[in-house]
Amino acid sequence: MLLDQDSADLTAKDRKYLWHGMSPYNEQTAPMVVAEGQGSWITDVYGKRYLDAMSGLWCVNVGYGREELAKAAYDQLVTMPFYPLTQSHIPAIRLAEKLNEWLEGEYVVFFSNSGSEANETALKIARQYHQQNGDHSRYKFISRYRAYHGNSMGALAATGQAQRKYKYEPLAPGFLHVRPPDSYRRPNGMTVEEFNLLCAGDIEDMIIWEGEETIAGVMMEPVITGGGVIVPHPAYLEEVRKICTKHNVLLIVDEVICGFGRSGRKFGHMNYGVKPDIVTMAKGMTSGYLPLSATAVRKEIYEAFKNTAAYSHFRHVSTFGGTPASCALALKNLEIMERENLVERSRILGERMASEMEQLRDHPLVGDIRSFGFLMGVEVVENKGTKQPLALPAVGKIIAECKEKGLIIGKNGDTVAGFGNVLTFSPPLSSTDEDLDFIVRTFKEVMKNQ
Ligand SMILES: Cc1ncc(COP(=O)(O)O)c(C=O)c1O
Repeated sequence: MLLDQDSADLTAKDRKYLWHGMSPYNEQTAPMVVAEGQGSWITDVYGKRYLDAMSGLWCVNVGYGREELAKAAYDQLVTMPFYPLTQSHIPAIRLAEKLNEWLEGEYVVFFSNSGSEANETALKIARQYHQQNGDHSRYKFISRYRAYHGNSMGALAATGQAQRKYKYEPLAPGFLHVRPPDSYRRPNGMTVEEFNLLCAGDIEDMIIWEGEETIAGVMMEPVITGGGVIVPHPAYLEEVRKICTKHNVLLIVDEVICGFGRSGRKFGHMNYGVKPDIVTMAKGMTSGYLPLSATAVRKEIYEAFKNTAAYSHFRHVSTFGGTPASCALALKNLEIMERENLVERSRILGERMASEMEQLRDHPLVGDIRSFGFLMGVEVVENKGTKQPLALPAVGKIIAECKEKGLIIGKNGDTVAGFGNVLTFSPPLSSTDEDLDFIVRTFKEVMKNQ
């Protein structure tokens, strides 16, 4: 471990040289500088340990400190460090085959580096797909308010979080938004199922009002994650699938967080028995150890590109997308998940976390608790009757007190004004029973004092 003096020096240099995402400009506060990780635990440069109940940024699915992953990347770097996927290489072929197995369908895979790029790629493929079929006017996309799809101009246009968009607008044109199925805030007198079907119906209304022949696709996560853990009724996604099929609109499912076991199944959409047309994925594919993302496209969509006319192939390239070491590491990551049954482990841990946290429902600040596999959101409110969201300083106090006690949790930060009030939990799927005990015990202790 570093001497305190060196740690302080690092922190000062961080303030001087680094620009951090999602962080206010403030010379007085120091970020946590993390030095090491093992299992579900991280250690900062002062030697303080924390249980990382956010898996970094919803991504370290197999936990920290896996030497096997480092070795897989090392071996690949020594054997063949780089070749672009305008041609091919062995780890990309093997990983695309493996992803087909995980997706339980026939998909063709385009690799990129980040979730944003995977979504950007999906948007471009969807537009060109319709053009290949002679549907030249289908260019619009429908997504949901409160959902996040990435930081680039297209993926951010699909995002429904005003606070992350409004300083950068105008973004790409042709992006429309509907309300999310936020059952906690549904109108009085409606059942959860009725409200969810109404929300799915909003999508069909929009398709009709805009003109079916102008809509290219619907983009959604199986469950809105970073936007507030908004879990739909099981009927919702099934209804959306039917609407998309009826109007010849592609269903693009963003599995950037929900994929790779987080939901208790291999992919989030598998909980709802639907088949997407395009699946995008990133984060958990390498457990965050190296950058990699993928856009998996149903075979029939790929087939629309086989025409030999001048503009019929997909003119899109990524230098680093699917780089060999990332693909080799992802394969090893999936091997670990299979060997250790981490998808099933996620389901078991998620059920336990949900049932143990359920006791908090009686707490005066807890408005709702929602979970999906080993992912949970606790919506905190000022008043349970009015559902007025808890003010940001009070939300920040809960998070800070958890951190003080060695527990890192998150929230839906900088999304929609007034709604930064959902505390989030997304621990490594490899967490031990003792890790989960620590999460539940510490969070309950903190909530007792609020
Ligand atoms: C659902 C979802 N989609 C896309 C992205 C963008 O991924 P990236 O940050 O890797 O570009 C994120 C990132 O948090 C996400 O949560």
